[in-house]
Amino acid sequence: MATIAFLLNGVPQRCDVSPDTSILTLLREELGQTGTKEGCASGDCGACTVAISDVATEGHRFQSANACITPAHQLHQQHLVTVEGLANKGQLHPAQKAMIDCHGSQCGFCTPGIVMSLFTLHNELNQHPTPLTPARLEATLGGNLCRCTGYRPIRDAALRMNDIHYERPSWLDAKQHDATLPDTTLMSDVSEPPSHDPADKSFYAQPASLSALLELRHEAPQARLVAGGTDLWLESTQRLLALEQLIDITRVTELLALEEATLEQQAGWWVGAGVTYTQLEPLFERHYPAFAHLLHRLGSQQIRNRATLGGNIANASPIGDTPPVLLVLGAKVELASVKGTRCIPLQHFFLDYKKTALADDEVITRIFIPRCDNATQLRVWKLSKRREDDISAVLGAFSYRIEQNALHDVRIAFGGMAAIPKRAQAVEAILEGSPINQTTFRSAQQALDEDFQPMSDVRGSQQYRQQVAKNLLERLYLSLSAPDQEVMLHAYAH
Ligand code: FES
Ligand code: FES
Repeated sequence: MATIAFLLNGVPQRCDVSPDTSILTLLREELGQTGTKEGCASGDCGACTVAISDVATEGHRFQSANACITPAHQLHQQHLVTVEGLANKGQLHPAQKAMIDCHGSQCGFCTPGIVMSLFTLHNELNQHPTPLTPARLEATLGGNLCRCTGYRPIRDAALRMNDIHYERPSWLDAKQHDATLPDTTLMSDVSEPPSHDPADKSFYAQPASLSALLELRHEAPQARLVAGGTDLWLESTQRLLALEQLIDITRVTELLALEEATLEQQAGWWVGAGVTYTQLEPLFERHYPAFAHLLHRLGSQQIRNRATLGGNIANASPIGDTPPVLLVLGAKVELASVKGTRCIPLQHFFLDYKKTALADDEVITRIFIPRCDNATQLRVWKLSKRREDDISAVLGAFSYRIEQNALHDVRIAFGGMAAIPKRAQAVEAILEGSPINQTTFRSAQQALDEDFQPMSDVRGSQQYRQQVAKNLLERLYLSLSAPDQEVMLHAYAH
């Protein structure tokens, strides 16, 4: 048990929590706040959505999160807002009022989560007034499933809420922040993150520096590393395994940096292992539009607000979305331990199913993503059953240059086709230097059988995966030879 201090709907709280306690468990079972619901307990449905801000750095800028898979320890010195906190002096929040006015709720089980997602959107639009585009609306609500109302009334509520007058409670009023936010006494009481003794049978450590993290890793190599927890926490909620010894990297300053740099004469960016997808979005929008497009389909807004690129790599899932893209971009990973630092190509990081080159006492510290030069094109296509908030069956990433109607510097990687995210080297060899024509691509499709013998599982059979991977090569050919047809494909195959 360790003590954490945080604000809950503007009111200071101080709680003793065990390492594997989620925010949802803390709310419902310790604090009696049952407005936040449990639907799937796996970050899929959004019923448990809450809003969190870092009191010190973000003030009133709240991000949505799935309470069911977010460690309660990460609340330390944060402000947590739940559906119980929205109404002010008997007046409903515009998200709540609009949901009623637009008949956006039937059974109501999903409703608190939807209201909280709308709350974060409403708050954001009030702080930074911008047009509410359909894409933004989809991003806001893509992580909230509703089984019985249907989405049109919910969308109507989202469009309506900004017209509803609302007197913000004092704790949400940015102008009164200093005067009324009652954080100082209680929060400074417990200003340091919970400490621990590595000899303890169970602990949740939150080191603040890289040296402290590496020391901890050295002392407790059996402990699990946690960043967003968006995959790790399912071991607790779905497989009912104990998460007893955890080292949280989200407060390690060195791991939160995102900086432009040069590595071995290559320009690019170092991305700290604790940088979230939401923080990466502006960089990807600007420099890797195809990667940014994938991000919009990676998990939900709630997941992207917490999950990290470092976590997606360390997790080494064969169906992780970002590794195939990073492979074709030629990314490198920096690994560190108390003994020193090494940097290896990502391609050498994945060894076998869920096995990586990371030693027991090492952590991923940063990922280097090379800049794409102007001539290099990047294509990324993800196939899943649902457009938002779903896991890939197959994901293909393609990078290449075109010179005199031939392909050069071809790099192709797939997820979902092998035990690890993997380059399609036989296909690359066929395409490299070859003219862009049907013969070339027919040969490339045949070569795919040399590269991969995928497995069958709930997301797709072996034959399905093999076929759709070949179809993605066909799509690449169409996009290069008949862009008009590719536009049509794009419309159907998001
Ligand atoms: Fe479904 Fe948390 S309960 S996302
Ligand atoms: Fe019943 Fe949404 S109102 S699930």
